[in-house]
Amino acid sequence: MPAKGVMTTSLEAPPGAPERGAIGAVRLDAASLTYPPRGRRGLAVEAVADVTFSAAPGEVVALVGPSGCGKSTLLELVCGLRLPTGGAVAADPAVLMPQRDLLLPWLDALGNAALALRLHGDGRDSARAAAAPLFERFGLAGFETARPAELSGGMRQRVAFLRTLLSGKPVLCLDEPFAALDAITRDEMRRWLADTLAQEPRTVLLVTHDVEEAAVLADRIVVLTPRPARVAAVIEAALPRPREATQADVVALRRRVTDALRG
Ligand SMILES: Nc1ncnc2c1ncn2[C@@H]1O[C@H](COP(=O)(O)OP(=O)(O)O)[C@@H](O)[C@H]1O
Ligand SMILES: [Mg+2]
Repeated sequence: MPAKGVMTTSLEAPPGAPERGAIGAVRLDAASLTYPPRGRRGLAVEAVADVTFSAAPGEVVALVGPSGCGKSTLLELVCGLRLPTGGAVAADPAVLMPQRDLLLPWLDALGNAALALRLHGDGRDSARAAAAPLFERFGLAGFETARPAELSGGMRQRVAFLRTLLSGKPVLCLDEPFAALDAITRDEMRRWLADTLAQEPRTVLLVTHDVEEAAVLADRIVVLTPRPARVAAVIEAALPRPREATQADVVALRRRVTDALRG
């Protein structure tokens, strides 16, 4: 058991080229995070309190909770961007796909996707050459040289996801990846993510406030309380795939999650 208030990585990524296809594990033990007061009159903000859950290698765990409850903070803990102020977080190397896609407007789509490889030390041309074959599979063929502003919302999300995947980290932390998309595109992107993970399994923490999204995509759903995020329920979602939002077992699962959210 890791010591209190520490972040440990049990499986360091090797230096150099990313480890493609690796899958990792995540474990939080009574993890807490309280933001310190801002300024003299500020108040400390308790964002995460006593959260315990785990994700086994290859599992998709959805974290569902109301806006402002502490979901993004939880992902930052898992990615090692923040240290817990209590409890422990142990995770294999994890990459964060932030809530906003954060594509660099001056790079084209291929350049943005290849950024993950350039951060690993690849040169511009070799990084682009390594990312290029994936454009076909991600439905982006022909848009390699388009700037982010020329792409649809769904395409921007796919470029951002491709960049996340190319980091080679065994744990993917996706922060409300489809929240900014229209309903039709969101539905397409969910199918696309489910297909992609079927082909290339990863351990995924999927933050969402969309119960349907969690029910369609997750193996397990961690339901969080309003701030500070505590675990209200952990619901197993062992349904066969592919899943449709309208099928009876998925609808029943959604109802269980909604009931848990209401307390
Ligand atoms: N850097 C920060 N400093 C202080 N408070 C923060 C910071 N980031 C987030 N918070 C606060 O922590 C709470 C949880 O935020 P967040 O994790 O972003 O929630 P969610 O992602 O569920 O909407 C919110 O009340 C937010 O205002
Ligand atoms: Mg958030």
